[in-house]
Amino acid sequence: MLDEALREIRRRKWERIVVFTGAGVSADSGVPTFRGAGGLWRDFRAEDLATPDAFARDPALVWEWYEWRRELVRNAQPNAAHRAIASLDRALVVTQNVDALHARAGSRNIIELHGSLFRVRCRREHTTRDADEPFATIPPRCECGALLRPDVVWFGEMLPEGALETAAHAIRSADLLLVIGTSGVVYPAAGLVGLHRGLSIEINPEPSTACNYSIAAKAAEATPKIVEALQ
Ligand code: APR
Repeated sequence: MLDEALREIRRRKWERIVVFTGAGVSADSGVPTFRGAGGLWRDFRAEDLATPDAFARDPALVWEWYEWRRELVRNAQPNAAHRAIASLDRALVVTQNVDALHARAGSRNIIELHGSLFRVRCRREHTTRDADEPFATIPPRCECGALLRPDVVWFGEMLPEGALETAAHAIRSADLLLVIGTSGVVYPAAGLVGLHRGLSIEINPEPSTACNYSIAAKAAEATPKIVEALQ
């Protein structure tokens, strides 16, 4: 399937490229995915850690878990897939990932649909700010005294204002869509792939979305080959 996809790519120049990614693109960096073998939701209960109710019930527990994930990601490096995507500077990256590894690899055009582990939001003022370093005290508090929460989208919450609309518009008008490392089960993000009308290529050891070409491979292996054919 990779050879067929490469042949198709080389047939013309692709102007409007969107790369839609999920946790699988960071798996080769040692960052656990959510579902599948070793997935976070296998070991942890989302309802205890990734919902507004869970945070209201026990903010310290939630923050302990996010501080563990932040440390894990801080110690990880962008992999060959992140770097290849970053080299496609005319591409827009639409990611479900909160690990900021696309930005660390050098991508500049990024829509973070589910927020970022390295930003916090004040529960009272709803202002956000970057927070790269570990917190001295858990749960961390804003200068105003209110609790800070991770600036991520928890289950049952809306996506950031305008992010979904901008992503939907870009995917509708793209001539090439790369879908890398997502199980395609979490909506509304998963609904974006179906909006695309051009050529679509999926990279995933267990392909799961309806694309023209599904390459059953790891992101770090297949993405550089696809990107090289696009340069
Ligand atoms: N390369 C490419 N894909 C991979 C790799 C790899 N090395 N390893 C695993 N995958 C694939 C799996 O086959 C699976 O289809 O990555 C996908 C990961 O799926 P999920 O764990 O469900 O992650 P994702 O699709 O990003 O989840 C969506 O769910 O939990 C919420 O907010 C969270 O953004 C997340 C959303």
